[in-house]
Amino acid sequence: MKKILITGGAGFIGMNLARKLQGKGYLVRIMDNLSSQIHGEQTDIAAKIPSGVEFQLGDVRNKEELRKAMADQNIIVHLAAETGTGQSMYEVQKYTDTNICGTANILDIIANEKNDIEKFVISSSRAVYGEGAYVCDTHGKVYPTNRSETDMLKGMFEPTCPECNGELSGLPTSETAKLHPSSVYGITKQVQEDLVRVCMEAIGIPYVVFRYQNVYGPGQSLKNPYTGILSIFSTRILNGENINIFEDGNESRDFVFIDDVVNATIMGIEQSAANNQIYNVGSGTQTSIIEVIKQLERVFEQNAKAKVTGEFRLGDIRHNRADITKIQSELGYKPSVNFEQGIESFAKWVKTQDTETSLYEKSLLEMKEKGLLK
Ligand SMILES: NC(=O)c1ccc[n+]([C@@H]2O[C@H](COP(=O)([O-])OP(=O)(O)OC[C@H]3O[C@@H](n4cnc5c(N)ncnc54)[C@H](O)[C@@H]3O)[C@@H](O)[C@H]2O)c1
Ligand SMILES: [Zn+2]
Repeated sequence: MKKILITGGAGFIGMNLARKLQGKGYLVRIMDNLSSQIHGEQTDIAAKIPSGVEFQLGDVRNKEELRKAMADQNIIVHLAAETGTGQSMYEVQKYTDTNICGTANILDIIANEKNDIEKFVISSSRAVYGEGAYVCDTHGKVYPTNRSETDMLKGMFEPTCPECNGELSGLPTSETAKLHPSSVYGITKQVQEDLVRVCMEAIGIPYVVFRYQNVYGPGQSLKNPYTGILSIFSTRILNGENINIFEDGNESRDFVFIDDVVNATIMGIEQSAANNQIYNVGSGTQTSIIEVIKQLERVFEQNAKAKVTGEFRLGDIRHNRADITKIQSELGYKPSVNFEQGIESFAKWVKTQDTETSLYEKSLLEMKEKGLLK
């Protein structure tokens, strides 16, 4: 059976993927630096690694550790990354070191050293699109630029037509959409994609790029205050803490349940039709933040102390809905869990977890100090 290395495999997507692959008979190795921002200071993570899965402590920024992890492996699923969009705006070097240089290290080893790699799968993000596709009555399909601070201070949050400044309606964003990331995180993911595409095509080993949308579900970090809106809101609801809803609460995201992401990723690993392709992995539907709060109140049977504050983060996008027709038609992917079902299973898991007060307030304060939260 094939040997699969999952970098960042102790994280949310990695653990779920490792479990499923191991169940299918693959020989799975995880390499992870157990970043404290994601895992907290606890030291028992290794105990959570599914039995039969090999764990190596290691950092993708360190070539020696990578070399050890990559030895004898046939497939690499590269998930290790810094993932906070807001945080990336003021931790630029940390984000580029891990997300870009970490990927470059893997490519260098594949290109220069003897290895058994047959496929390289990477986890890109919807963040490469920045604000996605919209349609203007007069100008057709357009890609709005960043919303202006002046407009947002006036409570005008919807993106407008870059040609006539007129009203727009949202469209699902396809893989061929313009790439214009609005965060450092998005830039690192775009560069990562380009490095992998160009190098792997030159080397002649297949790669697959997945642009995951907002992934959620059991196992997502409840500690990392910089990303994962469902985790942040859930912890705050359960602790009776206030929730600050940015903008007017009508901003929306494409939430995709972890099992669907794992299944899509395995399709990419197993199907040769996926070779050298880029795929959106989403639900194809969008959910507003107000709706997210309503659903969380339902599943936790508790009112959220949520308030629409009109505050906003520079660089945030307004709406997101992935066009998933490519992965549906080429790989046979079909989202199987809708938001209402997914959030029930997420909440059931959260209730079994330690939801001590998070560092969320601190993360907001940091963003305010840097002038990124208005
Ligand atoms: N969760 C989402 O909504 C989402 C959306 C789009 C893309 N992605 C991408 O999917 C991948 C996995 O995301 P996740 O949600 O599982 O995140 P996660 O934070 O739960 O997992 C990331 C893992 O990478 C590890 N890691 C971080 N820096 C590392 C380094 N330098 N060396 C080795 N390991 C390191 C962390 O310890 C963690 O276990 C990431 O590349 C992320 O950018 C996730
Ligand atoms: Zn227009």
